[in-house]
Order: sequence, then C-alpha cells, then structure tokens
Amino acid sequence: MTTLIEEVADLLSRSSKTIALTGAGISVESGIPPFRGKGGVWEKIDPMKFAHIDAFTKDPVSVWNVLIKGMKDLLDKARPNDGHKGLARLEELGILTSIITQNVDGLHQVAGNTDVIEFHGSFIRHFCSECNRIYATTDIKMTQIPPRCDCNGILRPDIVFFGEMIPPAALMRSQQLAETCDVMLVVGTSAFVQPAAYIPVIAKQNGAVIVEINPESTPLTNQVTDLALMGNAGETMNRVLGEIEKRIS
Ligand code: APR
Repeated sequence: MTTLIEEVADLLSRSSKTIALTGAGISVESGIPPFRGKGGVWEKIDPMKFAHIDAFTKDPVSVWNVLIKGMKDLLDKARPNDGHKGLARLEELGILTSIITQNVDGLHQVAGNTDVIEFHGSFIRHFCSECNRIYATTDIKMTQIPPRCDCNGILRPDIVFFGEMIPPAALMRSQQLAETCDVMLVVGTSAFVQPAAYIPVIAKQNGAVIVEINPESTPLTNQVTDLALMGNAGETMNRVLGEIEKRIS
C-alpha cells in the first residue's frame, strides 16, 4: 500500500511548479519559538501592546525592550534546520520555484532558496522611522535603546507590525504564484493570520494540490488541504526527500 509520504513524493516528483508557504513552525527546530500554542511568544507578551504599530509609535522603548531585543538575540544564533534545507533541496531538484514566508528570520535564504517572498518583512534589515535609511541588523549597536539613526530618528526592524499593510509587491506576487502553481506545500503555519492564510485557498481554487506539514491540525486541514502530513517539518521533509531521491537515482 502506498503511504502518504510516498504519495507526496510522487506528486512532488511530477511537479515543476511547487510553491511553499511557510510559518513560524518551520523555524521551531532552529530554536525560534512559534507565536501561538504551547511556548508561543504571544502567550508571554500581548501582541497588541508590543507588536502593533501604534504601540511602537507611542512607546518604542518598551517595544524594543520587550520584543525586538529578544528577537535579535534569538535570530542572531539561529541556523537553518532540516525543514529549511529540505526546501532548498527541492529547489535544487527543479521542483520548488518559490517560497512565500511569514517568517522574518531569513533562514530560507541562508539554506539556499533563491526566490523568497518575505510576506511579513525581514529582521535582516532595520530602517529609520524618520529618514528611511536602511541598516543591516548586524550593524546595529544595542548600547542605546531604542537605537537611533545618524539623523537621530528611531530605528525599527523592517517587519510588518500588526496594523501595517503587507508590502504590496509581496502580496501581488504571492497571489500570482498561488494562481499558477500545481502544488502548494504549507509548512508550519497555524493559518490564523490573514491575508497569508488565504494564499492556499487561492491555490486550491486554481487547481493546485495542497500538502500541509504540521504536527497539529489547522483551519486549513479539513477544509483546504488535500494531503496532511502530521509531523515536525525537519523529520517530515527528510522522509519526503528520501522518497524523492529514490525516484531520481
Ligand atoms: N514543524 C512544523 N510545524 C510546527 C512545528 C514543527 N517543528 N512546531 C510547531 N509547528 C506548527 C504549530 O502547530 C502551528 O500550527 O507551527 C504553527 C505555528 O503557528 P504560529 O505561531 O501562529 O505561526 P504563523 O502561522 O507563522 O503565524 C503567522 O502571526 O503573529 C503573527 O506575524 C506573526 O508571521 C506571524 C503570523
């Protein structure tokens, strides 16, 4: 009998336009906690108080101390895990063309994927809230909180805070990719946050097969997903890739 892993491997081996939508879950095995669920960031801090643009504008010192400083420490140390590496290998094999990620950790690019749409921005860069000058996060000195630009404006990460718009180019390209892919791999997202959670729905409406990798079920699992692989991203990607490599060797 064909297993679900084999079924997904067959599907991916035949695909030449697979797109991945990833969320915080794919980076859990790199030591970055998710936002929701057990041990999630939003269990400890209220996103409306510390991750909303109005909170940042009103009290940047608190947002820097409670949210941004901690993120910087975690992301500085994080390295890609087998989940990220598996998606990079799928690109090398000519199966996966692009990743739409809600993550701001930059780990897909470090793993080797070349077309990564940063739907919620990136923590790799900061910019000045006065003059818009861009700084590499690695160049930011934490001697003063909040760190400031040479023009004295307050620096902020180039991420999408709650209350801010998705970068229009990212939104448009994601929609186009969802409309034209033949398989969508949805990895490690709770699918609670819109408009990201709607991307698999667009793909499905346009005929793509939706494969979900997540240890828990999500609002997509019974409504939108065709093949649900219930497991951690790293181990599951390794099993799927093991089957694909057998088919091509
Ligand atoms: N492998 C795969 N999935 C995992 C793993 C793992 N090892 N561990 C946890 N998960 C799953 C959880 O079951 C959950 O469904 O990852 C998901 C993480 O969900 P969220 O924390 O809600 O992350 P995400 O979906 O990316 O959140 C979307 O919410 O607060 C905002 O801007 C933030 O981009 C984020 C957005």
